[in-house]
Amino acid sequence: MQPLSKLLSAFALLGLALAALAVPSPAGPRTLQKRFGPLCDLSHDNISTVIPASINDGQARPLLPPIADSPTFVVLGVGYANYTCLPNGTWLSLGGLLELFDISCVPIDARATFTADVQQAWLGAPANLTAQDIVDTAGLADAPFALGQLYWVPDPLDPSDGTYNPVWDFGSTAWHDALAGFADHDAAYLTGFRTGLVPAPVDPAVNIEWVTLAPLEKDGKPLGTFADQVFRIFCNGGATTSDTCDPNGPDFLSKTALNFWYYGGYWATH
Ligand SMILES: *[C@@H]1O[C@H](CO)[C@@H](O)[C@H](O)[C@H]1NC(C)=O
Ligand SMILES: *[C@@H]1O[C@H](CO)[C@@H](O)[C@H](O)[C@H]1NC(C)=O
Ligand SMILES: *[C@@H]1O[C@H](CO)[C@@H](O)[C@H](O)[C@H]1NC(C)=O
Ligand SMILES: *[C@@H]1O[C@H](CO)[C@@H](O)[C@H](O)[C@H]1NC(C)=O
Repeated sequence: MQPLSKLLSAFALLGLALAALAVPSPAGPRTLQKRFGPLCDLSHDNISTVIPASINDGQARPLLPPIADSPTFVVLGVGYANYTCLPNGTWLSLGGLLELFDISCVPIDARATFTADVQQAWLGAPANLTAQDIVDTAGLADAPFALGQLYWVPDPLDPSDGTYNPVWDFGSTAWHDALAGFADHDAAYLTGFRTGLVPAPVDPAVNIEWVTLAPLEKDGKPLGTFADQVFRIFCNGGATTSDTCDPNGPDFLSKTALNFWYYGGYWATH
């Protein structure tokens, strides 16, 4: 299982990065147990320095500017984008399922390359391996950087309209332990909708769009308070491989590795 071990070593690297960077204090890595937050300091991370300045040129739905100087969390997502074929032979995105990992300890200028390397390893992994299998096989379920999952739900405002919204659910083991006794479960998740969408700066036929998102609100209440704004950037893969499809064919699963940068939200002030 050479490709699989390559993928696992990418995550071992992540662990090493954490071991090297996140444990300088005698308090140890799980300061999260006392206070939620990224494993490494993000207060100097300026997303404008890693997004091409021309990203919004000529775009109908430009990315919004960040609502704060620095992100509250920076997370790697690895998994599948999920498509089904409509009766007219075009693809419909159903969302997908991604595992989420804290990559705050990967330096800002190394995150794009790190994410691309993870995608290469993920592409080389056996086709029947799920992102959850990576977590299980590598014994990552209890790792301090394993944060939870991203999945999609039918539009909470109109479940019958055939569209889906992303839910970032930070209910992993590490967070679950730290959240024990914590009453406000809303702070552990977020349901989003898109506020901006532009083609990936490199190879947009293969790599899905870069996106800004905001919390979806229902009855005047945000569906989750984990963050007030999300950037989806450094997107590798996740697109369909054809414009048309066979309506009787199977769902198409497209491997992807990308970043989510979260701004504001409950954890910015707690
Ligand atoms: C972030 O970088 C951009 C582009 O270099 C700059 O204009 C902006 O002032 C920076 N923001 C902060 C908070 O340093
Ligand atoms: C295919 O059907 C979907 C859903 O009804 C529609 O949104 C889309 O525009 C159609 N595409 C074409 C090429 O007809
Ligand atoms: C893809 O979407 C279909 C339809 O919602 C679902 O049955 C399937 O479990 C999904 N697969 C993954 C890997 O998320
Ligand atoms: C995945 O496929 C390999 C062979 O390619 C097989 O040995 C293994 O049992 C499969 N695993 C699952 C979970 O289906």
